[in-house]
Amino acid sequence: MFFSRPVRDRFSSVLALCLYVTGSIAGPCDIYSSGGTPCVAAHSTTRALYDSYTGALYQVSRGSDGATTDISPLSAGGVANSGAQDSFCANTTCLITIIYDQSGHGNDLTQAPPGGAASGPDANGYDYLASAVGAPVTLNGEKAYGYRNNNVKGTATGDEPEGLYAVFDGTHYNTGCCFDYGNAETNSHDTGNGHMEAIYFGTGDGSGRGTGSGSGPWIMADLENGLFSGYDPINNAADPTITSRFVTAIVKGESNQWAIRGGDATSGSLSTYYSGIRPANGYNPMQKEGAIILGIGGDNSNNAQGTFYEGVMTSGYPSDDIENQVQANIVAAGYATTPLTSGPGLTVGENISMRATTACCTTRYLAHTDSTVNTQVVTSSSGTSLKQQASWTVRTGLGNTACFSFESVDSPGSFIRHSNYELKVNANDGSKIFSEDATFCPQAGLNGQGNSFRSWSYPTRYWRHYNAVGYIASNGGPHDFDSAVSFNDDVSFVVSGGFA
Ligand SMILES: *[C@@H]1O[C@H](CO)[C@@H](O)[C@H](O)[C@H]1NC(C)=O
Ligand SMILES: *[C@@H]1O[C@H](CO)[C@@H](O)[C@H](O)[C@H]1NC(C)=O
Repeated sequence: MFFSRPVRDRFSSVLALCLYVTGSIAGPCDIYSSGGTPCVAAHSTTRALYDSYTGALYQVSRGSDGATTDISPLSAGGVANSGAQDSFCANTTCLITIIYDQSGHGNDLTQAPPGGAASGPDANGYDYLASAVGAPVTLNGEKAYGYRNNNVKGTATGDEPEGLYAVFDGTHYNTGCCFDYGNAETNSHDTGNGHMEAIYFGTGDGSGRGTGSGSGPWIMADLENGLFSGYDPINNAADPTITSRFVTAIVKGESNQWAIRGGDATSGSLSTYYSGIRPANGYNPMQKEGAIILGIGGDNSNNAQGTFYEGVMTSGYPSDDIENQVQANIVAAGYATTPLTSGPGLTVGENISMRATTACCTTRYLAHTDSTVNTQVVTSSSGTSLKQQASWTVRTGLGNTACFSFESVDSPGSFIRHSNYELKVNANDGSKIFSEDATFCPQAGLNGQGNSFRSWSYPTRYWRHYNAVGYIASNGGPHDFDSAVSFNDDVSFVVSGGFA
């Protein structure tokens, strides 16, 4: 269950990127077709995966009125029309509600329903949807964000051959189970070994699953009840730690044969990390069921974080040569990052104070009392201790250098971080989780004033004052402090020089 773990966030990032598409090279699915292994599912939030594809890539839903719109490529075979999304989502929040299947099989991905391992945190037990705001052509992961289709057509079942590739953010991962893309159970429950064949990206689920060399993250296969980096025993030293910002990850399987391949999605070629027979104990023959998952495990285990840009499933076992051509296509597409911040700029090393902009509260500043972040009325004649409580030193983001962290002026070494959706001032313990939870990406204020501070690890959530206490809130989400009423005002703060 979601809350059976300590109620801590794991996470996800917001990463904007742009694609520079060159010329007339065929799309990944055209390449797979030319090899006799056509795509039976093709998902992307960044671009068309067929040269001639002009249909919708994905649907977004905005917080202001719940309206939806489809985002399509700018031209046949081209990149997502991020300008259309920016205008649709202006001054509000947006979530990705559908990732359309470009293959013509209708295998669209939508919000994942509850499963055997977990009910999602959504009011109906569904997993969260990913943020679309501020990262126009990416799909941003959030803990417990998950997409699924249990009623698919054309994907491999039983021991039938298939190929999978995906492009992920190689720097965004955790050990929670399981950031997967691929073939899974049709009933959202664990139905046994060999009932899945999905690409996994991360550092394993911490319960004796597979590992590669180094400390990870690794590309592995989730074959159900096991994350495999190779043959049993499942620790394959030839499966390397991934260090590239964008990673191409491949898993493919046929009768008593499967492979893991990977490479840097922005340069160079693919390497084969495993190619050989199936693991023992229920994985030969496979009993694939053919559902499609993204961001979760086959039983809806939803403790993972990650970022997915594009991926496909094929019918048939693609040759290495065809996959090498697909890699060349991905490299040519030119994945690159763009700034994660917008609005009035912040300067590292400066002390700042942040004033609320909601009509009730324009004399109140973000402050803290012990570990609780709140808003308090502060003026130039306030006492030194209150001034210090309402002042913050801007630091380079502990979890992502493209964003910022905020160190308390009266408690050096302590930073604003989120914990169970509340903003806290806690001492930096140096952990990966603390760093990620203490990293925020300022955007132009949603109400047109100052900045809105988006959580790096929970990109659907922004700093908000609610009854004078600080939270990370999503627009219209499940908690009281997620209320859509005055959301834009409550998440917009005007930054000034610090009181202290
Ligand atoms: C900013 O705050 C720090 C404490 O974190 C303090 O040492 C420093 O003097 C302050 N800078 C200014 C310009 O007030
Ligand atoms: C929308 O946001 C922009 C800045 O991003 C701002 O200039 C504008 O005033 C805002 N409009 C409203 C209605 O809040």
